[in-house]
Amino acid sequence: MKLASTRMKLWLAGAGFAAVAGIAPAQAAQPATPEMLTLTCYACHGTRGASAGPLQPSIGGQNAKYMFDTLKRYQSGERPSTVMGRIMAGYSDPEIKAIAEQLAKYPFVAATHQKGVDPAKAELGKALHDQHCKKCHQDNGRDFAEGAGILGGQWLGFLKVVFEEYKAGKRSMPKEMQERIGKVSDADCDNLAHFYAAQKH
Ligand code: HEC
Ligand code: HEC
Repeated sequence: MKLASTRMKLWLAGAGFAAVAGIAPAQAAQPATPEMLTLTCYACHGTRGASAGPLQPSIGGQNAKYMFDTLKRYQSGERPSTVMGRIMAGYSDPEIKAIAEQLAKYPFVAATHQKGVDPAKAELGKALHDQHCKKCHQDNGRDFAEGAGILGGQWLGFLKVVFEEYKAGKRSMPKEMQERIGKVSDADCDNLAHFYAAQKH
């Protein structure tokens, strides 16, 4: 938050200067910059989207289009959520675009020190991934080709929730992925979650 607070101070200093110089507040008012818009996200998703987990995903360094589409799906309720739907309610499309593009500029920070990742399960998950998922989730899920988000190095708790939503039919997915997930048991989804969570970047 250090960078953010420095920015905020500069911004406040600027506003103070405008007041001293006698500039009318309406003229001095600046539209929120993309960086300012993303500050709200950091309380839960960590500074620059590098989450401290386990239920909040890391969101820095994701593909901007994937991020925009995801946020719009939360907003419309198409994608299930506990908090994201309500959070997105107040944002316009240009703001969502600015947020998505800003977050895409930061690195994706893998959750390398997270607890609870089971190497044996990750090993089983690797074989399933190679068989069913690697076509779209390339480089062991570390890449965001084919319009998907980065899975490799994501938080285990979040991944488990996502798999439960898919298995329960609460969240839409590409037809081909649906066919693949349909062939994978609940236990194997758990193995896949451990596999993705175990990836280093
Ligand atoms: C109060 C905590 C909180 C805040 C604030 C918050 N989020 Fe979230 N976010 C979550 C949680 C929890 C989830 C998991 C879905 C759910 O249950 O809502 C999530 C999920 C997401 C996802 C899904 C990631 C993926 O790969 O599927 C994205 C993207 C996201 N948030 C972006 C944002 C952005 C952008 C902001 C700021 C505008 C933001 N969030 C603010 C808690 C928060
Ligand atoms: C045909 C390409 C394709 C295949 C095959 C595929 N996926 Fe996906 N996957 C996607 C796309 C595209 C998304 C993003 C869709 C969305 O958010 O609606 C996605 C999203 C996901 C997500 C959610 C990520 C997040 O951050 O919310 C998980 C988890 C996932 N896939 C796991 C798998 C697993 C496990 C397999 C193999 C059993 C698989 N996928 C096979 C294309 C594919």
